[in-house]
Amino acid sequence: MEPQKMKDIFNPNDLEKKHTPVIERLGGDKVLVRVGIIPHVMEEAHYIESIELYCNKALIEKKGLKSGMPAEAEFTVVELKEEDVLMARETCNLHGYWESI
Ligand SMILES: [Fe+2]
Repeated sequence: MEPQKMKDIFNPNDLEKKHTPVIERLGGDKVLVRVGIIPHVMEEAHYIESIELYCNKALIEKKGLKSGMPAEAEFTVVELKEEDVLMARETCNLHGYWESI
């Protein structure tokens, strides 16, 4: 399944703001991925099911989430370097598969 992406980064719509993963390097090997630019709800009927982090196009880990948890996940990327390219994807139970920009 092709992930959805923000179409115009200068003019994202509400759905895009709530589903685009935001990648934050915490220092060292640690990376935090939040969903999204506006935090996504984590209710029983509507929540983020999983977050995946990729480094240089290779999957590092897929983390499962449940309603009630924050819409974020922390990852460890062994020997993460500044030049490494990070990318994240997430799945919303109602709105599908999304990729970071
Ligand atoms: Fe959603």
